[in-house]
Amino acid sequence: MIVRFLYGGSALIFLSAAFAAQPSASPPLSAPLRDLPWGQLNFLHTTDTHGWHAGHLQEPSFSADWGDYISFAERLHEKADDEGVDLLLVDTGDRIEGNGLYDASDPKGKYTLEIFGEQDIDVICSGNHELYKANSSNNEYDETVPNFLGNYLASNLDIFDPKTGEQRPLAQRYKKFTTKNQGIRILAFGFLYDFTGNANNTVVKKVEDTIKDKWFQQAIRDRDVDLFLVIGHIQLRSQEFARIYRAIREQQWDVPIQFLGGHTHIRDYAKYDSKAYALESGRYMETIGFMSITGLSTGGKSNEAADPDFKPSASPSFSRRYIDNNLFSFYHHTSLNESTFPTEHGRNVSSMISSARKKLQLDKTYGCAPRDYWTNRAPYPSKHSIFSWLGDEVLPGTVCDPKRGDKPRMVLTNTGAIRFDIFKGPFTVDNSYTVSPFTSGFRYIKDVPFSVAKRLLQILNQEVPQLWPASKSFASKMPAQPNQAHTSHGLEHVYQPSEQMRLGKAHTYDEKDLTPGYTTTDDGGSDGDDTIHVPITFFRVPSCLESRIDFPPTSASATHSSDSVEPVLIDLIYVDFIQSYVLLALKFLGTDYQDGDTEVYMQGRDMTSLIAEWVQGHWDCE
Ligand SMILES: *[C@@H]1O[C@H](CO)[C@@H](O)[C@H](O)[C@H]1NC(C)=O
Ligand SMILES: *[C@@H]1O[C@H](CO)[C@@H](O)[C@H](O)[C@H]1NC(C)=O
Ligand SMILES: *[C@@H]1O[C@H](CO)[C@@H](O)[C@H](O)[C@H]1NC(C)=O
Ligand SMILES: *[C@@H]1O[C@H](CO)[C@@H](O)[C@H](O)[C@H]1NC(C)=O
Repeated sequence: MIVRFLYGGSALIFLSAAFAAQPSASPPLSAPLRDLPWGQLNFLHTTDTHGWHAGHLQEPSFSADWGDYISFAERLHEKADDEGVDLLLVDTGDRIEGNGLYDASDPKGKYTLEIFGEQDIDVICSGNHELYKANSSNNEYDETVPNFLGNYLASNLDIFDPKTGEQRPLAQRYKKFTTKNQGIRILAFGFLYDFTGNANNTVVKKVEDTIKDKWFQQAIRDRDVDLFLVIGHIQLRSQEFARIYRAIREQQWDVPIQFLGGHTHIRDYAKYDSKAYALESGRYMETIGFMSITGLSTGGKSNEAADPDFKPSASPSFSRRYIDNNLFSFYHHTSLNESTFPTEHGRNVSSMISSARKKLQLDKTYGCAPRDYWTNRAPYPSKHSIFSWLGDEVLPGTVCDPKRGDKPRMVLTNTGAIRFDIFKGPFTVDNSYTVSPFTSGFRYIKDVPFSVAKRLLQILNQEVPQLWPASKSFASKMPAQPNQAHTSHGLEHVYQPSEQMRLGKAHTYDEKDLTPGYTTTDDGGSDGDDTIHVPITFFRVPSCLESRIDFPPTSASATHSSDSVEPVLIDLIYVDFIQSYVLLALKFLGTDYQDGDTEVYMQGRDMTSLIAEWVQGHWDCE
């Protein structure tokens, strides 16, 4: 009845029932799947969703939306309750920035905060992206924390209350709770890595200092705990998680610990010891992480009531699965189908998402891409590299400030400013945000000697990482880092068909049926992905690229750059996000440019709008 009211006609009712995912999403493809390794305690984990709550409309592997995830969680809860086991949902931050659904609204997040808040999450924390702007951390404080009250944890994060100006914890530091079905007593923390790029209305306390705090030291001495749960917007192989792990182990050498992390946008699973494991569940709503533990003590239950099947054992077993976020996987793991799977709540949220996308006109087309352009799936430079396209076509075609005219100029940008691939076909408003969601503008220094400027790129790509003080690496300061992350973990590993043939029930499949996708290798081996794929090759790209514009023409016959006439002075333009690095590199080259020598270039423009403008002018749809 309600659906009829919302949609009006009976034909449309059928359609809305058939597509739980967004109407314009590509349908999922069938593929051989590994089952979920259910245990006594189970987790569903999301991280670094960055506004992709409508799913990936152009990629069948990741085309389920947040409403489908709500249905999925509700169905798995039913299953857990039937079997008397527990299921907990966790999200580890960076929910915002990176997709039109968040970025295109005014104010930003007008729709996504509510959409995201519909999921019933048991333990949740903040990422760094929630803290770059005062507005977004205030949104956490005013909306997300109250929505997840009691579940939102901020172990090392404070905020200045926007009304009183008083410094206080963004949310409670930790929580202790007992699971519903098994009676497992869990002590949970929610951390952020030692992030320093936040706006001045929040305070991130270093992990090494936080673990010395009295409240933390007291909490980890609690003997009535069956499991420590440490969630964090922190990569698994980090000093921060290592410090928390050691601090807990100093007090409790034997109690199992589960870590759930994020930030580096990869699938990863790490073993710290035989009773301490960590899971990271990718990025952008591509992955729903599944984690299970069996063999935990159940101190929250009286002995009579305890299930005899789940006696505490000397060594509990831990298991993980990375679920490709699509309906084919969801149907399989719930043993349901398109008519039995969606819940009313899940459907409602899918409708909220479609209606927000419509209001934001995210499907409006700027033009049509003639081919795919990849961030990491093509080498740089090459015809299919999005960075070659940016440096050779977009920037030369758009970077010009009337006040400087066609003076020879160089543009420097960090490759992290480009966040995602472009697929052949329609390039929409939504795509302009997924490709480059950042609101950084451009600045420049006028009349820089070209003899200096031409050496900058190499310095930025090779020297600055070592020069830059107080940071783990250059890459960790950049807004996006799938570039670094993907090449060092998971996705690059070699496909091993013999190992992956063993499926739940002696299934056999043809390799030609496999589609390209994640083929992860981690501390648990190479059987973590739910969907069996052929691997995708990933290429490393530099941290920065440059584009030279309106340089003096070369002589007609000249084909080598050495034949061109070099300008003496150029305007040095850069994305303002990298100003401190550019100034540092200039210093390294023996010059003395200061903040005061820099000025705004192309007032009010950012990468998102330049790309949209270029596409409108160059990519016709047939
Ligand atoms: C911050 O939020 C306020 C209130 O919603 C809005 O008026 C303002 O434009 C926002 N500022 C930015 C920089 O988005
Ligand atoms: C943050 O910086 C702004 C100016 O950039 C200033 O007006 C404000 O008082 C600062 N807030 C805090 C809590 O320091
Ligand atoms: C879905 O499953 C139900 C119950 O098993 C069955 O009756 C129905 O025919 C199935 N629908 C589809 C579309 O497969
Ligand atoms: C779904 O939306 C309808 C219409 O707004 C509402 O009446 C109903 O309570 C919602 N159901 C759930 C489970 O959220």
